[in-house]
Amino acid sequence: MTGTDTAVLREMRWWDIDSVLELERDLFPEDAWSRGMFWSELAHARGPGATRCYVVAQEGDRIVGYAGLTISGAESEGGEAGDGDSVQAADVQTIAVTRDHWGTGLGSRLLTELLRAATAFECAEVLLECRVDNVRAQKLYERFGFEIIGVRRGYYQPGNVDALVMRLTDPSTSVNPANPVDGNGVQGTETNG
Ligand SMILES: CC(C)(COP(=O)(O)OP(=O)(O)OC[C@H]1O[C@@H](n2cnc3c(N)ncnc32)[C@H](O)[C@@H]1OP(=O)(O)O)[C@@H](O)C(=O)NCCC(=O)NCCS
Repeated sequence: MTGTDTAVLREMRWWDIDSVLELERDLFPEDAWSRGMFWSELAHARGPGATRCYVVAQEGDRIVGYAGLTISGAESEGGEAGDGDSVQAADVQTIAVTRDHWGTGLGSRLLTELLRAATAFECAEVLLECRVDNVRAQKLYERFGFEIIGVRRGYYQPGNVDALVMRLTDPSTSVNPANPVDGNGVQGTETNG
């Protein structure tokens, strides 16, 4: 841990993928995403029909964290399947911070940025999966108001580790999009969320 976090958050671009992959393989050794998966996600992150928000945390010329969110439609409560009565939902796809920055608040800043994006997309809820043995991440999510709503048995392979499914209803209550935490706002499978 390096004390107070001073990294700048910005949109993830294709030229960040090499650095992100290095972190990904270190932090998710059993189920790291491939280069193609990041390319595919970033392909949907720009333009009027964008359905992804990916951010990196940069300190000097080093990438020290990253996170990503997918927007999708979900049937609203009481709506019949297929009746077109759907609301926006978001899934935290991934969030990670270099080990030497753990405990500095950077994970919280990245998650805040994702929740700000979910709020901008008018998402009614945000979902994520988290390994049952990843207590640190669970505590981070719980501090933002996420609650456990289920378990996916053997979700993480090849280790056959269960995933907790966590949900935050109304992300706008966990973050004020008009008031970025640090003024460094970004432009606007199996997950590692
Ligand atoms: C999970 C992860 C993203 C959290 O990132 P982080 O930067 O350590 O998160 P934060 O610093 O915001 O919060 C972690 C702890 O530091 C504390 N903290 C926050 N700001 C702090 C500060 N300025 N000084 C000291 N401690 C601080 C928080 O209170 C928190 O402690 P708590 O969980 O006991 O309440 C990080 O551990 C990680 O990358 N893990 C590996 C990848 C991973 O597991 N990703 C999640 C997949 S589900």
